[in-house]
Amino acid sequence: MAAGADVPCAVLALLVLGLLAAGGDATAGFIKSPLSQRRLTQDSVELHCEAVGSPIPEIQWWFEGNEPNETSAQLWDGAWQDRVQINATYNLHSTSTISIANLTSDDSGTYECRASNDPDRNHLSKSPKVKWIRSQANVLVIERPVITGQYSSTADKVILSCNMSAPHAVIRGHKWMLGDKILKTDESDSNSYISYTIEGKVEDHSGVYECIYEMNPVAKGNVSIEVQPQVVAYKKSEHGNEGDTGVLTCKSPSYPPVESWVWFKSGQMDPIVNGTGSYIIKSAGNKTELRILKLSIEKDMGDYHCNGTNVKGSGGATVNLRVRSRLAALWPFLGIVAEVLVLVTIIFIYEKRRKPDEVLDGKRWLRSNLPGDAGKSNATNHKDKNVRQRNAN
Ligand SMILES: *[C@@H]1O[C@H](CO)[C@@H](O)[C@H](O)[C@H]1NC(C)=O
Ligand SMILES: *[C@@H]1O[C@H](CO)[C@@H](O)[C@H](O)[C@H]1NC(C)=O
Ligand SMILES: *[C@@H]1O[C@H](CO)[C@@H](O)[C@H](O)[C@H]1NC(C)=O
Ligand SMILES: *[C@@H]1O[C@H](CO)[C@@H](O)[C@H](O)[C@H]1NC(C)=O
Ligand SMILES: *[C@@H]1O[C@H](CO)[C@@H](O)[C@H](O)[C@H]1NC(C)=O
Ligand SMILES: *[C@@H]1O[C@H](CO)[C@@H](O)[C@H](O)[C@H]1NC(C)=O
Ligand SMILES: *[C@@H]1O[C@H](CO)[C@@H](O)[C@H](O)[C@H]1NC(C)=O
Ligand SMILES: *[C@@H]1O[C@H](CO)[C@@H](O)[C@H](O)[C@H]1NC(C)=O
Repeated sequence: MAAGADVPCAVLALLVLGLLAAGGDATAGFIKSPLSQRRLTQDSVELHCEAVGSPIPEIQWWFEGNEPNETSAQLWDGAWQDRVQINATYNLHSTSTISIANLTSDDSGTYECRASNDPDRNHLSKSPKVKWIRSQANVLVIERPVITGQYSSTADKVILSCNMSAPHAVIRGHKWMLGDKILKTDESDSNSYISYTIEGKVEDHSGVYECIYEMNPVAKGNVSIEVQPQVVAYKKSEHGNEGDTGVLTCKSPSYPPVESWVWFKSGQMDPIVNGTGSYIIKSAGNKTELRILKLSIEKDMGDYHCNGTNVKGSGGATVNLRVRSRLAALWPFLGIVAEVLVLVTIIFIYEKRRKPDEVLDGKRWLRSNLPGDAGKSNATNHKDKNVRQRNAN
């Protein structure tokens, strides 16, 4: 139906745009009309309207309730205790979107989009030459059904269920969702009581599950599984070098999220205070991080406990921290240095064995220069000559 209505609108739009290009005046015409809708109480509804014309037409919204005594009334941005919001743009052509939040059944009725570009359109006494053009949509607001969500659990199973009282329309099927993940769809079941079974322990499947009934309008309920934090350490044992920063991390995948995290050092009663000593704690919902600056072997080695608390209780985990001496980090380097030293020594010894003469001569020359010989410089010079002569031989 909407597609059928769009074709003449498009033709009209082309005609009007053609007239605009030619510089002539054109009365207002709709290129998009609001669509009728069904909604549940507390939902919101949006209606959209677009018009062309030259000059660009003004768009207004009017409402008429279903009661026989009701009269038509104009709606404006902020009307009905701010539940009505109107966004309009006026460039090239006019567009307007009205949205009504937190619907009640009294909001059921006819919503009318009116457009006009007649200069006298809003005159109080003069009636305009060209009348406002109108386009209507019906909004039906239905009382929201009550959907009761529940769960029961055994050692290895969790059964979720939703039960809708007084369905407002035909149920064409349903689906179960967790966050944006679809867990199950059933497109034939028209029952108002539906269930979904999870294999596993309830602690591992906390969250807000949604049951969605396929009907017009769609109805949603939820089953909330709340457990105390199931805290796990990111790593059960951490290593750090003396002087470096140690980072210990714990997290909780459970619902509801952890409200407060606390860290304890084994053997100490009081929790670690953020910012004291070399400790910095960073906690964000699911996750907590304990940073220990300038690790020390004596002070910081040992077990640390993280403890997360939510409305359901608390849970914790233990992380063991080992601090290695700074030298430990140097061992590989020292190993290489030692290896090089050994090689150099071997080469040196080998060289020494290959040329014994030269080395002997060197020794004799050295001995002749001993401090004890300092007084006999002439004799030394004489001996030097001898050496040089022998070398020449
Ligand atoms: C219309 O009539 C109903 C009762 O039938 C009354 O509650 C309501 O206030 C009336 N509305 C107006 C606008 O007079
Ligand atoms: C109207 O505009 C505001 C701000 O630009 C936006 O937040 C709001 O969602 C719009 N409302 C509608 C009904 O488009
Ligand atoms: C929606 O309307 C109901 C009654 O009309 C009111 O009690 C409730 O506070 C409203 N909710 C919001 C979010 O405005
Ligand atoms: C579902 O709710 C209706 C009434 O709201 C009740 O009569 C019915 O027994 C419920 N069904 C189950 C399976 O609990
Ligand atoms: C779950 O349903 C209850 C009651 O229907 C509602 O108040 C609550 O906001 C819902 N929670 C979520 C997360 O949708
Ligand atoms: C909490 O953890 C879950 C799964 O581990 C994740 O999907 C969710 O986004 C986290 N929430 C926050 C507030 O970090
Ligand atoms: C701990 O203190 C640091 C700054 O020193 C801050 O950034 C951090 O948010 C604090 N953590 C908590 C859990 O308050
Ligand atoms: C965690 O802390 C809370 C309150 O600080 C305490 O009651 C609870 O026993 C602690 N749990 C663990 C596992 O340490």
